[in-house]
Amino acid sequence: MQAMNARVTASGPVRRADVEGWFPADDRVLFTELLGWQSRTQPPGNLVELGAYLGKSAIVIGDHVRDGESFTVCDLFGMEPDASDVRSEVTEQYGGLTRERFEQNYLAFHDSLPVVVQAATSEIGKHVAAGSCRFVHVDASHLYRHVAGDLVDARRLLRPDGLVVVDDFRAEHTPGVAAAVWEAVLGAGLRPVVLSRQKFYGTWGDPEPARSFVEDLLRDRPRWRFVEDEIAGQRVVVVRRPIRRKTAAPAPAPVDKTERGVPRRLARAARRMLRPEGPAGGR
Ligand SMILES: C[S@@+](CC[C@H](N)C(=O)[O-])C[C@H]1O[C@@H](n2cnc3c(N)ncnc32)[C@H](O)[C@@H]1O
Repeated sequence: MQAMNARVTASGPVRRADVEGWFPADDRVLFTELLGWQSRTQPPGNLVELGAYLGKSAIVIGDHVRDGESFTVCDLFGMEPDASDVRSEVTEQYGGLTRERFEQNYLAFHDSLPVVVQAATSEIGKHVAAGSCRFVHVDASHLYRHVAGDLVDARRLLRPDGLVVVDDFRAEHTPGVAAAVWEAVLGAGLRPVVLSRQKFYGTWGDPEPARSFVEDLLRDRPRWRFVEDEIAGQRVVVVRRPIRRKTAAPAPAPVDKTERGVPRRLARAARRMLRPEGPAGGR
């Protein structure tokens, strides 16, 4: 993963696009739509993000916090992790991350901060009540044992109609996330709702209401392609690469059969004439 360049002023980033991070446009749409749908159809519930980095996805989740709800982000924010495997992951990829930079970015778009837990994600159960959440985004360590633990916590925090979203569940550099997600699907009752190109969306409750909401949403967006698949007896919506508008192929450059405007045949004959040994010379 490579951090994108940011355009940041003294008071924070100017636009959301200027916030560094890893949050693809199709997931921004799915977060916005699913959180909005939950707000319209479900009672208040808490929101949690495990792994906030500089706030790119947290800022979007923060748009949907209603009265009576709390939003908690949990991240090491540059703190030295205890586990040595996380240490190499964190120091290699998230250098320069500080809690202050996260807070400055977040406050550029919201009036107040979420609850910030600066700790390993394994601590989240001490800060958020079990069964209180409607949405948990798992995007911290991408190593198998941490993601497996984060999923156990997500299940404990979510109420039955809550949604969990897991980042990088099918990236080539994160096989541990894939292992943890499919293990939870096949053995721990996690039910897929929609798979974007980067994130897995699921629930431990009834997946049908969220799934049919997403299907209707995608049908209304002609540029989005999706297929329905069945995994271990469960229907799932799979989002495919968006359709790109066809652009006319550039016209091929005309073939120049001349050397500086002189036909090649004539140029070759002239070179032969000018050789010191004359036109008959050669090897
Ligand atoms: C991929 S980034 C999160 C990206 C972010 N959601 C965005 O939209 O750009 C992962 C974050 O997880 C944090 N992290 C990694 N391992 C962690 C752990 N064990 N506990 C808490 N935070 C962790 C890192 O500090 C980093 O900020």
